[in-house]
Amino acid sequence: MRVWILGGQGLLGKSVLRMYEARGCTVLATGKKDGDICNPSILETHAKRFEPTHIVNCAAFTDVDAAENHEALAYEINAKGARNVANIAKEQGAKCMYISTDYVFDGAQPGSYDEKAPCFPCNVYGKSKREGEQAVMEAYPSSCILRISWLFGHQGRTFFSSLPRLMKERKEIRVAKEQQGRLTYVEDAAEAIFSLQEQSGIWHFANRGTVTRFEVATYVREKLLKDGCSLACQEIIPVEASLFMQQAARPTFSILNTEKYTKEIGHSPRDWQKAIDDFLKE
Ligand SMILES: NC(=O)c1ccc[n+]([C@@H]2O[C@H](COP(=O)([O-])OP(=O)(O)OC[C@H]3O[C@@H](n4cnc5c(N)ncnc54)[C@H](OP(=O)(O)O)[C@@H]3O)[C@@H](O)[C@H]2O)c1
Repeated sequence: MRVWILGGQGLLGKSVLRMYEARGCTVLATGKKDGDICNPSILETHAKRFEPTHIVNCAAFTDVDAAENHEALAYEINAKGARNVANIAKEQGAKCMYISTDYVFDGAQPGSYDEKAPCFPCNVYGKSKREGEQAVMEAYPSSCILRISWLFGHQGRTFFSSLPRLMKERKEIRVAKEQQGRLTYVEDAAEAIFSLQEQSGIWHFANRGTVTRFEVATYVREKLLKDGCSLACQEIIPVEASLFMQQAARPTFSILNTEKYTKEIGHSPRDWQKAIDDFLKE
C-alpha cells in the first residue's frame, strides 16, 4: 500500500501519517509548500513519482472565522483544491478520501445527523466544505467522504486541543455553554480513516457521547487536577456563545450520527472521556 497524505503537517494529517507508518505502509506526506492542492501540476508530479494506491486529503482552510473574510480562498482550497485531488486520484486509479465536517449542517434539526441528512451549512467554511464534498463526488464518485467534528489532539490549534495549556496559563476560562457536539480525537479519527480506506460514499465518525464545550472543559480540568497537575485555572465559567463575538455563526447542535460506521465497520467509537484521558496522558 502506498499512501499519500495531503495536508500532512496539520493536526489530523500528522496523526494519519503516524498511523500509516506504524502499519508499515509506504507513505508520502505533503504540506502547503510542497503539495499545494490548488496547483494541479504539482499534484500530478507527485502522483506520477509516488504512484499512490490511497490518497487522504486532510488539507483544508480550517480557520472558521477567517473564512468569512476570505471566502474566495476558502472555496479555492476546500472545494476547488479538493476537486483537483479527486481528479488526480481518479487518473491514478487510487482510492480517495476527503475529510469533511459537521459544519455542513446548521444544527437546527432536532436529533442527530446521519449521512443522508440534508446539508444547510451556516457559515462560509461549512459551505466551502460542502461544495468540496460535492466536487469530489462529481469528479470521482467512488471517493470516500469522512465527516468528523470537534477535532482535538496534540499541537492542534483547535479550542479543545489548547485546553490543557489555557488551564496552566489562565485563572479563569469562559466557555460556551449551549453548543453541543461530539468530540473526535485525532488518533481515533486516524484509525477510522484506516477502517474506511476501501469504502466509498459519505461516512460519519466521532467519539461517543454528546457534550457541551463547558462539559469538556470541566472534565479536562478535573482530570488534570486528579493527575496532580498544577493549574492556574480556578474556575470555568459557562457563558453564552454570542459573548465571544465570533465572525462566523456556528451550529448550536451538530451531532453526527455514527451508527452506519458501527454497523458496517463493526466497531463502535469509544467514549469521549476515554479519548480525553488518552490525550492528557500523552
Ligand atoms: N479542526 C476541527 O475541529 C475539524 C473538525 C471537523 C473536520 N475537520 C476537517 O479535518 C481536516 C483536517 O483538519 P485539521 O484540524 O487537521 O486542520 P489543520 O491543522 O488546519 O491542517 C490543515 C492543513 O492543510 C494545510 N493546507 C492549507 N492549504 C493548503 C493547500 N492549498 N494545499 C495543501 N495543504 C494546505 C495547512 O497548512 P498551513 O497550516 O500551512 O495553512 C494545514 O497543515 C480538514 O479537512 C478539516 O476541514 C476539522
